[in-house]
Amino acid sequence: MPNEPAAQRVIVVDFGAQYGQLIARRVRDLHVYSEIVPFSITYEDLKAKRPDAIILSGGPASVYAEGAPAVDPRIFSMDVPVLGFCYGMQVMAVALGGTVPQTDIGEYGPATLARCADDSLLLAGTPSEQTVWMSHRDSVGEVPQGFTITASTPTTPVAAMECAERNLYATQFHPEVHHTEHGTQMLSHFLFDIAGLDPTWTMSNIIDDSVAAIRTKVGDSRVILALSGGVDSSVVAALMSKAIGKQLTCVFVNHGLLRKDEPEQVERVFTTEFDLDFVHVHAQDRYAAKLAGLTDPEEKRHAVGEEFWKVFFDEAQKLDGVEFLAQGTIYPDVIESGSKTASKIKSHHNLIPFPEGVHFDLIEPLRSLFKDEVRQLGKALGLPDHIVYRQPFPGPGLAIRIIGEVTPDKLEILKDADAIVREEIDAYNADLVAKTGETNPEHSCWQYFAVLPDIRSVGVMGDERTYARPIIVRAVESVDAMTADWAKLPYELLSRISGRIIAEVDGVNRVAYDITSKPPATIEWE
Ligand code: XMP
Repeated sequence: MPNEPAAQRVIVVDFGAQYGQLIARRVRDLHVYSEIVPFSITYEDLKAKRPDAIILSGGPASVYAEGAPAVDPRIFSMDVPVLGFCYGMQVMAVALGGTVPQTDIGEYGPATLARCADDSLLLAGTPSEQTVWMSHRDSVGEVPQGFTITASTPTTPVAAMECAERNLYATQFHPEVHHTEHGTQMLSHFLFDIAGLDPTWTMSNIIDDSVAAIRTKVGDSRVILALSGGVDSSVVAALMSKAIGKQLTCVFVNHGLLRKDEPEQVERVFTTEFDLDFVHVHAQDRYAAKLAGLTDPEEKRHAVGEEFWKVFFDEAQKLDGVEFLAQGTIYPDVIESGSKTASKIKSHHNLIPFPEGVHFDLIEPLRSLFKDEVRQLGKALGLPDHIVYRQPFPGPGLAIRIIGEVTPDKLEILKDADAIVREEIDAYNADLVAKTGETNPEHSCWQYFAVLPDIRSVGVMGDERTYARPIIVRAVESVDAMTADWAKLPYELLSRISGRIIAEVDGVNRVAYDITSKPPATIEWE
């Protein structure tokens, strides 16, 4: 199964940690596969996952509080190495007979850690004094029988403890955060020296394992994929193409709401660089008719979504022997559903509105990957940078960047203006990369695009009065789109964008820059 990507695995038991995903990321960065499970997992289910090592995360609770998250103490006797961080350390201490007195003396931020045992396996090779990151109120008082105290800070006498005989280790500080100077070294000791794992979870192994798993699952049948040109569906297409070639049909629904030249780029990449069956559905007219007269943002969104699946299933039904529908579900989607109830996990899958009498099994080869791992995989599979580093783009496309009714004229204006915004900011970013050596151009700005509002204003061009449309430029910085700030683009860049839009796009006589953060605004205008 593609969802079982590695022979060796580290299970992170999540107690509601601020840094839960980060722990799994750090382990994966060291080329060991890691998965997150909620603390409420049963002992049997945890065992069934065949962990090679377990990490207990931090968490906001106090171990003695009523209903505080705990673990089944049997996990400490499974003959699997366990490492606890912060709350995870306290849970381990309490479960094995130690104490966690309520001192009400917290410790937050950097702290100086002093090692106090030369033979610590976890801290081996790290300096006798080092900076670590703390974020706790309670801490361990008496360690359980058989444990040694291996480090302390001025406020936390038991800052690390271990019982090498039982392969149990714990730190009150957070080795997973960047501010813990030697955190990666400690994690490496745990994974490789203590748990004896191999750093074999690499992109090329992920590709080989996924390809083999996809072939086994699919056999001789056919697979269909709704290819949007976005990162996730493109990486699924590239991976599946490597596994099953023309047994994969990619249906690309061109709704006319993508950015300028994008449909042509998608078609070019997937028909020339990859072996698969590519169906380009020109549905622009269908969409134009569907959107005519609609002005409410939610109605527009709904119309685009509903039409998409109608067009897609019309095509799907023309193909014989299709048993599977491939989807670009990624790990954060899975964690999100998994943290809710089981019935919610189903509804996540049921989001695809299968028409009456139509059913396909799902195949989701990216289910275990974080977004940046999906990008690395895309690169390793040979996808071009303009797809791998593509900005997030809303499913309803430009329909929600045109305020009010969507018409062919407005679409043309917006596409042209948007292309200029992107060209100029891309050129600016490329220049920045050349000057500063910053190699992650997509981090310089989260999203940047043009918006066409439903108003006109007076202007003067040549000697003529104009009454034409404005373009709003939106550029934001963000890490997850939950909050965002407007990008402080240099005036010369804004001026170039404005000058080019006025000169090159007919029907526009004014350019404005949106200087609102999220909240109170949103990134998109609709
Ligand atoms: P907002 O506008 O809510 O956007 O701040 C947050 C992020 O989500 C994207 N977005 C959408 N993506 N369908 C999508 O697939 C949508 O209807 C949609 N609306 C917003 C937006 O581009 C931003 O990255």
